[in-house]
Amino acid sequence: MDITELLHRYPAERRYMLAVLQDIQERYQFLPKEALCQTSGYFGVPLSKLYGMATFYKAFSLKAKGKNIIRVCDGTACHIRSSTVLLEEIERLLHLKPGDTSVDGVFSLETVSCLGSCALAPVLVVNEEYYGSVTRTMVGEILNHYGPAMGEVPVWDVGSAFEENLEGNGGSAIGDRLAWDGGNADEWA
Ligand code: FES
Repeated sequence: MDITELLHRYPAERRYMLAVLQDIQERYQFLPKEALCQTSGYFGVPLSKLYGMATFYKAFSLKAKGKNIIRVCDGTACHIRSSTVLLEEIERLLHLKPGDTSVDGVFSLETVSCLGSCALAPVLVVNEEYYGSVTRTMVGEILNHYGPAMGEVPVWDVGSAFEENLEGNGGSAIGDRLAWDGGNADEWA
């Protein structure tokens, strides 16, 4: 991973750090640690400073995202129309909680506070596709459009997989985008 060209779009002045992080997020859909290390060197700031920015702004993610991003609205209108039931069903089918990505990289799950379609509550979005008045039984049908049949894909939390199963393998069994969960603040000191 080389982000030299991306970095050199901007002068090496700290006021441009946020813009660089936005560009990295846009390119990779998350902030890979290697890219942040290069950014740290370019601007001459500690990695911990970038970690602080990355965790402060909700637009940034330190975890790799899946190929398909499921966003379940948990705003007021959707919540009172049982959006939690949709989350429970997704968890049952994919073993994902909000913020997780399946280890096969097919799905990420997020919650959002309003999708601007309250009349269709409860609403979920997969990538750019909106689904309104979603019921528990519709969830599996919707997800089957995007991934393998439910239950056939081993899914578990990326961070847990790294810590429990892949240490000692140098992470070589998985791609770079999954080899680091970004969740350990101690790494950033
Ligand atoms: S509260 Fe869910 S779309 Fe507005």
